[in-house]
Amino acid sequence: MKDRNKDGLGRRSFLFRTGLAAASIPFLPISCQKTAEKPDEKLDENTFEFAFLTDIHIKPEMNAPKGFQMAIDKVNGLNPDFVITGGDLVYDVMRGNYEKSEALFNLYKDMCKGFKMPIYNCIGNHDLFGIYEESPEDENHPDYKYGMWERHFGDTYYSFDHKGWHFITLNSLDVTENKRYKGVFHKEQLQWLAKDLSKVDPSTPIVITTHIPMICAYSQLNGSKGSRTVGNGFEVFRMLEGYNLKLVLQGHIHWKEYGFVNDRFHFLTGGSIAGNGWKGRRHNTKEGFMRIKVQGDDFTWEYVDHGWENERLKTANKGIEAGQG
Ligand SMILES: [Fe+2]
Repeated sequence: MKDRNKDGLGRRSFLFRTGLAAASIPFLPISCQKTAEKPDEKLDENTFEFAFLTDIHIKPEMNAPKGFQMAIDKVNGLNPDFVITGGDLVYDVMRGNYEKSEALFNLYKDMCKGFKMPIYNCIGNHDLFGIYEESPEDENHPDYKYGMWERHFGDTYYSFDHKGWHFITLNSLDVTENKRYKGVFHKEQLQWLAKDLSKVDPSTPIVITTHIPMICAYSQLNGSKGSRTVGNGFEVFRMLEGYNLKLVLQGHIHWKEYGFVNDRFHFLTGGSIAGNGWKGRRHNTKEGFMRIKVQGDDFTWEYVDHGWENERLKTANKGIEAGQG
């Protein structure tokens, strides 16, 4: 069962906050007050916010829990309807043993209890248990690859609905024969996606979340070996033809990137919570997350700094002052 609404995680009432609208009501004639409330009610039905937090890379070291807590506090202050993550929740379980890996997921889960709204998680490459040669575990372990993530969070691909929008989280990862991860949407998942889409009205706005990007300029800019995109992402785009795909949310690169394709759909690569492994910016993108405001059939976005850079520099400067630099 891959419909998260049935798990009761989905809907939550949204409090529309317009100080100006509220302030204007006392100046209206009494007879107008009723009609003045109606547009707000209608707006409430079609308006919501969510946050997209990716590449959290939680670990006990490097003050990472403090940094993640700052992000949680920032999100709670903004009070979106829900949070979507973009994978690489922990750093990392690809190479680790069972105990250490289990402790990382438990740390992540415990910290996520601090969010005051539902959270919908996505799997990233660093969340694949025991897949690297260096790991003492092997593919016979019940938690191998997706197993540990599934035990903690449920299915690695699923969908849910919110205020008329359809959200699909995909698993963009598999493992190669030489024990590396690769970006791919496996066959079984594509079959599930076809079934899921068959229940969606073609006019319904759709948001796809994937850890490995489906579209990204990384390789063009860096010329580095190995693609940073999902090998068969085009198959998903093909399946979405005829649907109202609005937005693709992506992680993995730890950079901020926006695009709008053929006046049809947008893509956002959502920076990262951890930056360069909690040591500073990566690709010049500050640590942060995406705040997305939906109104009707449209949305706007902004990248929110959760303050980690300032905090990190403050700690570093203290170290210098104390002669530890
Ligand atoms: Fe990452």
